[in-house]
Amino acid sequence: MPRRFVSERRRDPYYRAAQREGLRSRAAFKLAYVDERFRVLRRGARVLDLGAAPGGWSLIARDRVGPAGHVVAIDPRAIEPIEGVEVVHGRVGDPGLPDRLGRDRFDVVVSDMSPRISGAYSTDHARSVALVREGFRLAQRVLAPRGSFVAKVFDGDMVADLERELHPWFEEVRRTKPPASREPSSELYIVALGFRPPVGVDPPTGARGGVRPGRDI
Ligand SMILES: C[S@@+](CC[C@H](N)C(=O)[O-])C[C@H]1O[C@@H](n2cnc3c(N)ncnc32)[C@H](O)[C@@H]1O
Repeated sequence: MPRRFVSERRRDPYYRAAQREGLRSRAAFKLAYVDERFRVLRRGARVLDLGAAPGGWSLIARDRVGPAGHVVAIDPRAIEPIEGVEVVHGRVGDPGLPDRLGRDRFDVVVSDMSPRISGAYSTDHARSVALVREGFRLAQRVLAPRGSFVAKVFDGDMVADLERELHPWFEEVRRTKPPASREPSSELYIVALGFRPPVGVDPPTGARGGVRPGRDI
């Protein structure tokens, strides 16, 4: 690991807090922030966590839904077992995945999936949008009516298209940028609330393939 990255990480208050609180990743604070703003992780809820490794979001979700809830964590990378979380080793977009998730619907689908970074911004943006579409395709199959979908996306000109695709399926579609998303980072979170599968609308298509306050944008 480059020395500069290691020393920056040591100075990062979210990284240090995640270590202190046993949260596995600084990303955990992003879901905590989204939940504080939008109250998506209710007690007793069933949560599907896409791109869950190493498990920071799953830990937050598990603690917030409590023992009456249920969290299923999916990632192609290995996830160390988390008490109270069901881990599914798999890739969103794999046609066999939905059948491995059981028949019960989820109240919340969250996605922190990241593409492999190429360094070329437009490529990374397009790949990130494609992952959100994959996540949403899965959400369309497994979300309960009035459920929520939260997804990270690298900002860029295709985000508006993505939101247009989500709008007919939800009562409300918002954007937010948690404070734990680093200042230069272009990531933001789409928060879609109140799933309402409309009649006569096709699933979205598309390619597959220091601390500052957060803000809704
Ligand atoms: C930023 S990490 C997630 C961090 C996690 N939310 C946490 O709090 O610990 C992004 C993850 O997305 C996963 N990912 C990328 N493409 C995926 C796919 N198609 N299906 C499932 N997971 C995927 C990667 O393997 C990686 O572990």
